[in-house]
Amino acid sequence: MKISIASDHAGFEQKERLRAFLEGLGHEVCDHGPATDDRVDYPDYAVPVAKDVAEGRADRGVLVCGTGIGMALAADKIAGVRAANIITPQFAALCREHNDANVITLSGRFVEPDANEEILRTFLTTDFGGGRHVGRVEKIMALD
Ligand code: RB5
Repeated sequence: MKISIASDHAGFEQKERLRAFLEGLGHEVCDHGPATDDRVDYPDYAVPVAKDVAEGRADRGVLVCGTGIGMALAADKIAGVRAANIITPQFAALCREHNDANVITLSGRFVEPDANEEILRTFLTTDFGGGRHVGRVEKIMALD
């Protein structure tokens, strides 16, 4: 899969680890930075990843900040993006099955690295459920 990833300073350390994790799984990863943990503004890093997904350059997006909340709020402003802030593997599965989420936002401060790896693995391996969920997701996308 082609995966676009970025973080802010609060998510930097886990972003570095998750990039290596994804590469180890054989994915093609585009890292939009930052390259250090210097303080930055998360919307500046959410947008390039969201646009990669919305414009078809990436299959999925991964964003990491302190909570994941700011990244989700910013990414969801980009038409075509369905970003979900996820802190458990169960919700990672559900955001795929029910919501067809194409961007996941993770917490670098409140979720342990091993847990984020499991969340990310689940996000990437769970298919959209289709069926009754299709019309609901279409109604969300009609709001773009
Ligand atoms: C940065 O301090 C923090 O606000 C940011 O990483 C994120 O948690 C915002 O939602």
